[in-house]
Amino acid sequence: MKALTWQGKRKVSVETVPDPTLQQDTDAIIEVTSTAICGSDLHLYELLGPFMSPGDIIGHEPMGRVVEAGSATNLKEGDRVVIPFTICCGSCWMCQRQLYSQCEATQVTEQGSGAKLFGYSKLYGSVPGGQAEYLRVPYANFGPIRIGEELPDHRYLFLSDILPTAWQGVQFTQLGKGDSLAVFGLGPVGQFAARIGVHLGMRVFGIDPVPERRAMAARHGVEVFTDGDDTIQEIKDATEGRGPDGAVDAVGMEAHGSPLGHAAHQAVGLLPDPLAAKMMKTTGVDRLAALHGAVDLVRRGGTISISGVYGGEASPMPLMTMFDKQLQFRMGQCNVKRWIDDLLPLVEDPADPLGVEDLVTHRVPLAQAPEAYEMFQKKTDGCIKVVLDPQAK
Ligand SMILES: NC(=O)c1ccc[n+]([C@@H]2O[C@H](COP(=O)([O-])OP(=O)(O)OC[C@H]3O[C@@H](n4cnc5c(N)ncnc54)[C@H](O)[C@@H]3O)[C@@H](O)[C@H]2O)c1
Ligand SMILES: [Zn+2]
Ligand SMILES: [Zn+2]
Repeated sequence: MKALTWQGKRKVSVETVPDPTLQQDTDAIIEVTSTAICGSDLHLYELLGPFMSPGDIIGHEPMGRVVEAGSATNLKEGDRVVIPFTICCGSCWMCQRQLYSQCEATQVTEQGSGAKLFGYSKLYGSVPGGQAEYLRVPYANFGPIRIGEELPDHRYLFLSDILPTAWQGVQFTQLGKGDSLAVFGLGPVGQFAARIGVHLGMRVFGIDPVPERRAMAARHGVEVFTDGDDTIQEIKDATEGRGPDGAVDAVGMEAHGSPLGHAAHQAVGLLPDPLAAKMMKTTGVDRLAALHGAVDLVRRGGTISISGVYGGEASPMPLMTMFDKQLQFRMGQCNVKRWIDDLLPLVEDPADPLGVEDLVTHRVPLAQAPEAYEMFQKKTDGCIKVVLDPQAK
């Protein structure tokens, strides 16, 4: 089959690789009909090279049809399914508590990481990913989300990751109707986090340097701002000087406007892989402009929910302010299946309350994935979300 493989920093290529096969009776093989590129893939593309090997298949936002199902699954050939990016058993101590991204059956203990993820480096188990014609799905007795036949792929596809990630990000703020929420970053995750805030009756402020991302969020009732020097003050002024009740950081480790972190990224990039991996695990390599902005912005006693992925073990945080402002923090990989019962009715609703019809800017054949990665990273051609089509010739 054809699959998108990681080859080096900013270098991915479509290669012919062996077809996946069933290895356990809890596995399934799916033929992938749509598979998205995520902001998390950009971290592999730019920064997490020390944890990658050339030839690794990436991608963790796939959906498709079952072509082969192990005897211990209740799937059958032809079932249409979305595959959550977190791989979990559904029955261990963590899964019983719906902490699926911490599943004890799939935790990557040798790296000190939580549950395995599709296509996400040694840190998360080196599981072959979903930007491919076919995908082996471990724990298919629990993971796959069975969906109906009527609606097009893009209505369902984002249940694999960004929609539940955004939903969890907003739930973690514990805010509701009448509250105010700032969303840092209006990439795909921030788009949904901001729209979910609006849907739940909040006043939402969205911050992103990219004009078309702000314009997209504004179409969904979000008050938008660039990441300028005055932004924090302007939003404070709009909230009686206190700042919003909570914030979602949907930016992560590669935030724009973080000179110190940027220098650390460049330094890590010059080291051989084992040293670079060690440095990332022991020092501060994150670019923190968005997270520090959130600490500054939210009101005293407010909550900051971090959806963006961070990777440095000792990135500097303003603890004095965090303590003095009595801030609360929540964060983590998404427990995808925890939120599907809430989200499935919303993506199937003809009124499209979260605007899933207004997110994808590019759908291209898998063969064009290398150009699509470059476009998504550089944010050229108005690119906001790319879906790859492995069946298009
Ligand atoms: N927790 C999870 O389970 C989970 C799941 C999916 C994605 N993520 C993470 O969420 C983050 C966002 O993902 P995405 O797909 O939306 O990616 P993305 O890269 O498209 O979005 C990031 C956005 O942040 C903006 N930005 C950069 N610097 C900023 C700043 N200083 N202030 C405000 N905005 C800034 C960028 O312009 C961009 O629009 C990534 O870090 C990704 O790894 C986490
Ligand atoms: Zn993702
Ligand atoms: Zn489990």
